[in-house]
Amino acid sequence: MARVALVTGGTRGIGAAIAKTLKAAGYTVAVNYGGNDEAAQKFTAETGIKAYKWDVGDYDACAAGIAKVQAEVGPIDVLVNNAGITRDGMFHKMTKDQWSAVIRTNLDSLFNMTRPVWEGMRDRSFGRIIVISSVNGQKGQMGQVNYSAAKAGDIGFVKALAQEGAAKGITVNAICPGYIGTEMVQAIDENVLKTRILPQIPVGRLGTPEEIGRCVAFLASDDAGFITGSTLSANGGQNMA
Ligand code: CAA
Repeated sequence: MARVALVTGGTRGIGAAIAKTLKAAGYTVAVNYGGNDEAAQKFTAETGIKAYKWDVGDYDACAAGIAKVQAEVGPIDVLVNNAGITRDGMFHKMTKDQWSAVIRTNLDSLFNMTRPVWEGMRDRSFGRIIVISSVNGQKGQMGQVNYSAAKAGDIGFVKALAQEGAAKGITVNAICPGYIGTEMVQAIDENVLKTRILPQIPVGRLGTPEEIGRCVAFLASDDAGFITGSTLSANGGQNMA
């Protein structure tokens, strides 16, 4: 039987590429999304992958959504916590709403999504939890105190939970993408991107969502069974942590 993978924020950007890569690798894939119905319908029409709508910042919605996916698709073997947002701004201008929205979606979501699948993975003695953190969680980024804090928190979550899962056949790993050519990065002021960010990337270009998809497929595979608690950097050389 094909393993079942659930990807949050899976209808656009990096998440969509992850979902497509896992499907091509033979997984039965379901995706979650937060709000953009049009993008979700388009994604499902293109890929045949079912998309389920709920807010990853809401624990009860996650528990209910996961129960629905497991009833319709099967027990989740691979969970990819990818959903994330930015609310960039210099700290002296940052509002409490900008702070809270990012912590909720990018960090609270890890508890909300992983807790409801964890016991099943322990019972079945197999699981893969893959968290999409960020280069900016490793190195910090001006204008992103909220995002960098949440993404650094993601890495702590992975390192602690990996120790709990290891004896139960569950691996827990983080991927830290650098700047990838998605809507999120296209939203950065063009001048900032050109003059401040691109020159810091030795490979000389943005990454592609597919490059992150292939990292996920590797960490999900049996070949990666000895890798847990790790942080895989895919950033074009921007940060060598
Ligand atoms: N590196 C170095 N300097 C930067 C910088 C950066 N990444 N971003 C801004 N600056 C500089 C600006 O050039 C400017 O310098 P000068 O005054 O000398 O011109 C100064 O900081 C203030 O910046 P702004 O004038 O742009 O200030 P603002 O208040 O209008 O905007 C901001 C602030 C919204 C944070 C804007 O600067 C910005 O969007 N910066 C980019 C932040 C960023 O990198 N976000 C990543 C989003 S993608 C993502 O998060 C995915 C991922 O995981 C990698």
